[in-house]
Amino acid sequence: MPPTKKPKQRSIQWFGRQDIYGFIYRSWVKNRGVPNDQFDGRPVIGICNTWSELTPCNTHFRVLAEHVRNGVLEAGGFPLEFPVMSLGETLLRPTAMLYRNLASMDAEESMRGNPLDGVVLLGGCDKTTPSILMGAASVDLPTIFVSGGPMLSGKYRGQDIGSGTNVWSMSEDLRAGKITLEEFHEAESCMHRSHGHCMTMGTASTMASMVEALGVALPGNAAYPAVDARRNVLARMAGRRIVEMVKEQLVLSKILTKPAFENAIRANAAIGGSTNAVIHLIAIARRIGVDLALDDWDRLGEGVHTLVNLMPSGKYLMEDFCYAGGLPAVLRELGENGFLNRDSLTANGRSIWDNVRNAECWNRDVITPFKSPFKRNTGIKVLRGNLCPDGAIIKPSAATPKLMKHRGRAVVFESIEDFHKRIEDPKLDIDETCVMVLKNCGPKGYPGMAEVGNMPLPPKLLKKGITDMVRISDARMSGTAYGTVVLHMSPEAAAGGALALVENGDTIELDVAKRKLHLDVSDAELKQRKAKWRAPRPPLERGYWRLYYDHVLQAHEGADLDFLVGKSGAFVPRDNH
Ligand code: FES
Repeated sequence: MPPTKKPKQRSIQWFGRQDIYGFIYRSWVKNRGVPNDQFDGRPVIGICNTWSELTPCNTHFRVLAEHVRNGVLEAGGFPLEFPVMSLGETLLRPTAMLYRNLASMDAEESMRGNPLDGVVLLGGCDKTTPSILMGAASVDLPTIFVSGGPMLSGKYRGQDIGSGTNVWSMSEDLRAGKITLEEFHEAESCMHRSHGHCMTMGTASTMASMVEALGVALPGNAAYPAVDARRNVLARMAGRRIVEMVKEQLVLSKILTKPAFENAIRANAAIGGSTNAVIHLIAIARRIGVDLALDDWDRLGEGVHTLVNLMPSGKYLMEDFCYAGGLPAVLRELGENGFLNRDSLTANGRSIWDNVRNAECWNRDVITPFKSPFKRNTGIKVLRGNLCPDGAIIKPSAATPKLMKHRGRAVVFESIEDFHKRIEDPKLDIDETCVMVLKNCGPKGYPGMAEVGNMPLPPKLLKKGITDMVRISDARMSGTAYGTVVLHMSPEAAAGGALALVENGDTIELDVAKRKLHLDVSDAELKQRKAKWRAPRPPLERGYWRLYYDHVLQAHEGADLDFLVGKSGAFVPRDNH
């Protein structure tokens, strides 16, 4: 059947053909009962689904996708759902981050190689959001994001408990003998009791907030619980909206502009968001062609306060954040205080300011006013020095203020296994003034830059009541974790960074106000140590691990693969037969 209108969509180059190829492209799709009129040139919408039972946070995504599908149909589009690699934070080893770039390639090629005019991205668990958004950025179709939403608050013996955050604290309580193993097991069942992703302001909630602040998602995307009916309405509205976006040719690069990234960075500071957002946003920006660097985080976060009192920086959970007004109420505060680029375009076709200017806050204990914030001036700080010439980061909102300026003796762990082997030893030569140093956990070293930077404290110090120490590494930290933890040191130890040269007993100086992290060892001595240093072998000689090892960029560049930076656009590949 010839198309009834003159579509500009790329899908017409599949479904609008009146030759053998058109037969092939249409006929196989019809095998599940698709009527002929679906090929009349209407927008074809991909629903990019990261559903997987191996990703517990995304197991409700079949239902979510159905709501998107209904919205697409209501708006006169033709929905086609497709799966992409899904990355579950809790099950996938050695770390889901190792596969973020692989999943992004899957998403990118699936979008470009298929007859799609626009795409709805469904992400939830930490890495599922940046992976598919990175892939989409390299294609640059009209794109809208729908997050899966957080779980309901954990409830344990009359108390709220939060994903991750209370896992760390309860495991330290168990090690310190403060709770029994039975109580520990009971808490497991009470913590995660509904569909959805971690309900602290961890990486998943942070990235859901980031896509909303970037304007790629509809207002309200970050906070509605996964099981709240409004989450399904949001999915349905996104399905309707993407059809319009195709007609308007509102491609992703019109939304993902530098001002939009600036909004996201400030929003991250205001929500007390995850340090992982630093790496992911830089990687996404570099895909779409926006010049975003580590120092932008420090510069833009300056003067922004943490407004949201959520774990791990505070006490509430995402459900409370939703009832208090969610991200729109935070963005309004930023906008009223000169920290929002108000004109940034969003997926619904309106400016971000139009979306949030009337947003109400219903609980000022959860979302504090900018004038009397929960914590002051707590944007991510970027550190430099002979230990990290390309940068390292610290999240002040999760750190202990008195440790932000500190000199201490280094206690060095050569790998995470070395750490686990020695940390419980009562004879370990360490006290609370020491600086814990962990090596070989960066992109190449782990491989994949695991979330092990928030090293648990030695039991003998926990028993003394010590709750925080300065810890430095080339690793990442879970967004749900906390402490005076310096992360993402670049270059990493396995790439020959100075971190590799630190020895037990060296003195390390941290001064966050001066943005300084310094190893108090002479250049001549470091040169001698470097001469003896040997680069580690790749963790595997073949396969994706090898590809990753050979091509991964350092943390300050977003830890993308070097050949994935940039975009190839939405060109239509040649015919397949
Ligand atoms: Fe999936 Fe935390 S484990 S979001």
